[in-house]
Amino acid sequence: MQFSAKVSEAGKQRTACTIIPVDAKNRLTASGTALDEACGGVISKLLKRNDLGSRLGATQLLSMIEGPAERVLLVRSGEGILSQADFRKLAKASAEAVKGFKDAFSYLTELEVTEADTAWQAQQLALAAGLATYKFTRCLSDAKPHPLAKFQVHAPDRKQLKAVKDGVAMGAAQATGSNVARELGNLPGNICTPTYLANQAKELAKKHAKITTSVVDAKKMQSLGMGAFMSVAKGSDEPPALIAMQYKGGKASEKPVVLVGKGITFDTGGISLKPGQAMDEMKFDMCGAASVFGVMAALAELQPAINVVCLVAAAENMPSGRASKPGDIVTSMSGKTIEILNTDAEGRLVLCDALTYAAKFKPEVVIDVATLTGACVIALGNHATGLYANKDELAQALLSAGERTGDRAWHMPLWDEYQSSLDSNFADMQNIGGREAGSVTAACFLSRFAEDYTWAHLDIAGSAWNSGGNKGATGRPVPLLMQYLLNK
Ligand code: BES
Ligand code: MN
Ligand code: ZN
Repeated sequence: MQFSAKVSEAGKQRTACTIIPVDAKNRLTASGTALDEACGGVISKLLKRNDLGSRLGATQLLSMIEGPAERVLLVRSGEGILSQADFRKLAKASAEAVKGFKDAFSYLTELEVTEADTAWQAQQLALAAGLATYKFTRCLSDAKPHPLAKFQVHAPDRKQLKAVKDGVAMGAAQATGSNVARELGNLPGNICTPTYLANQAKELAKKHAKITTSVVDAKKMQSLGMGAFMSVAKGSDEPPALIAMQYKGGKASEKPVVLVGKGITFDTGGISLKPGQAMDEMKFDMCGAASVFGVMAALAELQPAINVVCLVAAAENMPSGRASKPGDIVTSMSGKTIEILNTDAEGRLVLCDALTYAAKFKPEVVIDVATLTGACVIALGNHATGLYANKDELAQALLSAGERTGDRAWHMPLWDEYQSSLDSNFADMQNIGGREAGSVTAACFLSRFAEDYTWAHLDIAGSAWNSGGNKGATGRPVPLLMQYLLNK
């Protein structure tokens, strides 16, 4: 899809669909009024029929005979200055309503939003439009993608044009990245294997000059002493891969941000087998990995002057005669030994070795992203990502990046008091902490392998995908991560 911004005259702007806001008292903005005049006043006449609902975000589509727009989408914008959350509702509702047309032009940037400029509005509009047009068609025999090919945003005046353009570019890149993450997340486990992910990473490096890829295979893992990672993969016929993608946009001397994604391409639980109910959703257990692929794609599009390394810890967790058993003790790359009391707590086992490996890139910060615990879904549902950090400053930066994009996280505790639940009778630690505070104790486990650098952990078990009727990957937390990286 093509995105752009310009200072436009709504009365002359040719479109398949023009999006204009209508406030609680049926009033139009300046552009709306100009368009109404160009259409012979038909918009204001139709508004008097009161077919546009009064609910904020309600939409009504008008087919036009006169004027430059083939259609006009009316969007109810409520009263006065909008909250950011309300503006997001308008962005989403209008994007959903226009995705069936070949192009659309949005004048919602004429609205006023609390503590947000037009650049922010443009970013939100582009992100919403990009997200709305995604559809998983790869495994359909008859694919019909959404037609929307061009989305334009109005800049209220020339002074704001540059900022609005930057906002559109950012939102578009966040959408590109989110949709890359959604596509990988939605792919089934028989297609999206660790080897498939490694090949995707190699392809990315071929296409983009600033990206290089390397892959640590099973043999190399063995020689690096990644006993924890290997213990997860060994029950599967699919070989594991620790994938490193490096985006080099900044100076060679600048330390990179390292992102680490959990890439369990299918999580059966292993010998600690999961119940059958909704087990298909464990194909989404690589959504952390998918999100770092998404970040790479977004960086490739925006080309910012920063350095980012994305690591993907990819393996399949299966039961078999070669699988790890409860009680097995393994030695991680760090040298710390781990008693595997539950083979279903596998994410932390692949991640701990990836975190040790991350130090090799001399990171400024390391952020891991993982569908780590069912307990996080119980704690936060699907609205917030669970956020843990060993430095408060990093936690704050990630929280505000999430707020700004509407891809929110919630700060969870990483207090010392929780650590003792990982005490083992037979090894340096065990891989589970018991029923209580499951998301916290999982984060505590990871923290032991991230002591040498500034680190955060995002538990996306609730936010990475939707269940039920609209089952599918969400692409989160790509918008949050991109916002964080570009704020720097
Ligand atoms: N991938 C799961 C976490 C998960 C479960 C995410 C359900 C989303 C929905 C993870 O590997 C897992 O199985 N975690 C266990 C940990 C437990 C054994 C300590 C869990 O959450 O039950
Ligand atoms: Mn598991
Ligand atoms: Zn898992």
